[in-house]
Amino acid sequence: MNFDQLLERRYSCRSYTETPLSEAEIKELIAAANCAPVGSARYMDLHLTVVQDKELLMKLTEALFIRVEQKKKEMEAIVETVESQKAAPMPRDPYYGAPVMIFISHKKQDLQPGIEWCNVMNVAMFIHLKATEMGLGSCFAWGVLESERMFPEYSHNELLNLPEGFEPLIGILVGHPKEEGKRRNLPVDRLGINYLP
Ligand SMILES: Cc1cc2nc3c(=O)[nH]c(=O)nc-3n(C[C@H](O)[C@H](O)[C@H](O)COP(=O)(O)O)c2cc1C
Repeated sequence: MNFDQLLERRYSCRSYTETPLSEAEIKELIAAANCAPVGSARYMDLHLTVVQDKELLMKLTEALFIRVEQKKKEMEAIVETVESQKAAPMPRDPYYGAPVMIFISHKKQDLQPGIEWCNVMNVAMFIHLKATEMGLGSCFAWGVLESERMFPEYSHNELLNLPEGFEPLIGILVGHPKEEGKRRNLPVDRLGINYLP
């Protein structure tokens, strides 16, 4: 699969079969994650947690459901300009039935403000693209952790058993898609742009 074919196949998968990922598949995804570029090559500041325990995952959604109740309007406002997302109801399972969620955590730091977000996203993106190449579905999972940041009193992140000083910033769901994703036409003008001479 060349890069353009990968782009045509990539999408956020929101419906998975119950088939678990094999150990070999998980290993391949983790190997791709390890190839991601990280600022100043500080790979020691990143940590992955592979979770397959659905009960544990559901415990981590408490803050999300509190947020849905308390901040419904604000959450709707985030997607109100996006036609395809407008009618999407809040799913009862924000993991969409995916058999695996990989949390990407970063050591807290203020030496390079903000670099932790870029680093975790690079790692997540490499997993996303590798999953696409492997014919798997995947989707970034931001809402669960963002809600915990908003309502820390409902956070259960201690369940992730992270090394001291690390916090989970983003997750990525991976699994076997219920339906095969269609090849997409590649957009070329969705982003604002200006050219300087
Ligand atoms: C930083 C980031 C966070 C995201 N968080 C979520 C999420 O929590 N739940 C979800 O269903 N999709 C999430 N997405 C997926 C986006 O909604 C999706 O990429 C966008 O709608 C474009 O659709 P596509 O990926 O299928 O092209 C996230 C994407 C990014 C880049």
